[in-house]
Amino acid sequence: MWEVRNEALVVTSLLVILGSILWYKLKVSNGAPPLPPGPISLPIVGYLPFVSPDFHTQLANMAQTYGPIFKFKLGSKLHIVVNTLELAKEVVRDQDEIFSNRDKSVAASVLTKGGQDIAFSDNNANWRKLRKISVHEMLSTKSLLATMSVRHEEVTKTVKNVFGKIGTKVSMRTIAFATETSVLSRTIWERVARDMEKQREELHKLFATIVEDRIKSNLKISQDEGENDFLQILLNHKDEKDGTTLNLHQIQLLLLDIMIAGTETTASTIEWAMASIIENPNIMKKVQDELAEIVGLNNMLEEYHLPKLQYLDATIKETLRLFPTVPFLLPRSPSKTCTVGGYTVPKGCTTLVNVWSIQRDARYWDNPLEFNPDRFLANNKFDFKGTNVLFMPFGSGRRLCPGVPLAEKMLMLTVGSLMHAFDWSFPKDEKHDLKEIWCFAVKKETPLIVIPHQRLPDASLYM
Ligand code: HEM
Repeated sequence: MWEVRNEALVVTSLLVILGSILWYKLKVSNGAPPLPPGPISLPIVGYLPFVSPDFHTQLANMAQTYGPIFKFKLGSKLHIVVNTLELAKEVVRDQDEIFSNRDKSVAASVLTKGGQDIAFSDNNANWRKLRKISVHEMLSTKSLLATMSVRHEEVTKTVKNVFGKIGTKVSMRTIAFATETSVLSRTIWERVARDMEKQREELHKLFATIVEDRIKSNLKISQDEGENDFLQILLNHKDEKDGTTLNLHQIQLLLLDIMIAGTETTASTIEWAMASIIENPNIMKKVQDELAEIVGLNNMLEEYHLPKLQYLDATIKETLRLFPTVPFLLPRSPSKTCTVGGYTVPKGCTTLVNVWSIQRDARYWDNPLEFNPDRFLANNKFDFKGTNVLFMPFGSGRRLCPGVPLAEKMLMLTVGSLMHAFDWSFPKDEKHDLKEIWCFAVKKETPLIVIPHQRLPDASLYM
């Protein structure tokens, strides 16, 4: 009798426990799908102690274990990573509006006064205003035409500088960084700042001083001194009454964003492009043959040649496929809880779109690890606007990189000019490889060291 009673008690207790768990789950989840799978996180620090220096490959490996969408915590912050074309499309296209807020790290929040800049602002009226001015004024076709001479002068200077080092070892990283810093700083405020790298921590102060100086001096800006630069475009909005007014702080933050977002990304891509081309002599020949045909061996490359250089364009695209410098896009954050790939993605979490792994996925690309620009020649369904999410090194949708038109020109002009003016070889005594390192952007682990050789017969072209 006792035994029967005991058994009944045990069964009833189990049923009550199970029922309570079910009730609790249904109440908490409200019938919503579960969170994506993922590794167990430690209390307080989450997955932080396990983050490796090559975070981008680590995330790709985690996708093998946990599937196309997975979660982990860094500190108390929930991160969700999507790794396939289909899920990336759900985030950046189908639910683009929901995912058009940014996730701000503490450092970014402090630096941008809670996201008052363009890159870390949420999708709000302030961001839409900054975006409109950036896309339609600063980086418009008209404005880029007005700053064409700056790009021409700076790339010409670089070619002359490299000519002075013919036959010796040069660091492509130094060349690319110096060129892009000068182009961008002159485009922003028409003043050469080759020593910018040294002043990086001081950038905030530097920008404040430059903006204040320009206002205080109340310059009547002449034709050749900056009337076309970005600073002037923004200052024209300082006292606008049409809803596009910018205060001084917003002007400084916007210029800072452009300088930071534009320099490292473009310089790193140039280094990757040069490394990949020089490593593949048959590709170098094709790039140079096209330049010889379109530009001629008695001329230097100019911007008006660029639309005709299809093989160079394909080579730049192939570089950005294999080495997207912003491998997970800038972190997005959903403005409300939603569903991706059948899993719940909670409001406010950090969402990473693993572009690096999608652009190397053998399900979508033949021989994905082979550097082969021909794949972009064969079909023209890929652009830099992320129309096809299989290739989106500049992102896609509302948060698409606004710097695409300038970056495209800078990449084509710099790589094209260096390839047209010089032959390149690796120093015999140095090892070279294409190892990557992740440091918020993906860059080459070791700087590319190469030797330039004169290619054009007329030495006066280099002066
Ligand atoms: C090879 C060069 C570059 C690459 C690979 C690159 C890539 C990216 C990516 C992936 C994003 C995030 C897009 C998203 O979340 O969907 C982004 C945002 C941004 N980029 Fe670029 N970028 C480059 C050059 C530039 C240049 C030259 C500028 C400025 C002139 C620039 C300015 C910005 C800004 C301001 C944002 C933030 C936009 C927003 O949040 O609304 N970038 N970039």
